[in-house]
Amino acid sequence: MKLNETDLKRFDDDGFLFLPGLFSEDEAQMLMDEAQAIYKQDREEVWRESSGVARTAFAAHTYSEPFRRLGRHPRLVEPVEQLLGEKLYMHQYKINAKAAFDGEVWQWHQDYGTWARDDGMPEPRAMNIAVFLEDVTPANGPLLFIPKSHKQGVLEAGHDLETTSYPLWTLDREAVSRLAAEGGCEAPIGPKGSVVMFHGNLVHASPPNISPLNRTIVYLSLCAVSNHITKFTRKEWIAHRDFTPIESLEDDCLRELVDNRAAVAAE
Ligand code: SIN
Ligand code: MN
Repeated sequence: MKLNETDLKRFDDDGFLFLPGLFSEDEAQMLMDEAQAIYKQDREEVWRESSGVARTAFAAHTYSEPFRRLGRHPRLVEPVEQLLGEKLYMHQYKINAKAAFDGEVWQWHQDYGTWARDDGMPEPRAMNIAVFLEDVTPANGPLLFIPKSHKQGVLEAGHDLETTSYPLWTLDREAVSRLAAEGGCEAPIGPKGSVVMFHGNLVHASPPNISPLNRTIVYLSLCAVSNHITKFTRKEWIAHRDFTPIESLEDDCLRELVDNRAAVAAE
């Protein structure tokens, strides 16, 4: 899949691109069923909120066939290859639940701020591409973006080890307010199967989810192979050390699993 000129311009101007309905409802549902099964597992890659509900499952592409395929899906890998101009490897892979009632905040941050400081990633030549596995609405803790903030480089940040179970380099309110005075603040919302790609330096956050609706999003953090990390301070399943270039699968790689599961259910 290739981005057109309008997409490229929008990404360059705003630092993100929203692609509604890129995956079908049944592809998203199949992945959601798998995410729920993973969250029930007792494994170190699944981190939990203080209430005990799952917050993040790391590295699911290494232990789940549906998520392995998603990590090599051409609808995700090819647009990022196009933007970064070379082959990619998987720097990080997360399935973030923001559970109904209990899903906690992600404070304001830039992902590349963490990748540079903690992982020694040389340049912001890596980015996230996110797939909504459930509908994202204004009510259930959507991502919040500060458009155009990706043009600011790496901003000063403090290491937040306390607010949530996930350590993060976070920005202060003054910096976020200054950037929002220029770029505003937007929440990409849309149905399950939608995709949003965003620049590694885009300032973003998400509020707690007090609504009765779950909100699950998968994030592939794809990095240009020549820009691989140089510091290995975090667990291998948080900041991967396998820099093998990703070879995309066929476009119907998830459809095949949807059809297989329907056939088994019908037996
Ligand atoms: C992130 O910023 O890395 C995750 C935010 C979210 O899933 O709400
Ligand atoms: Mn982030």
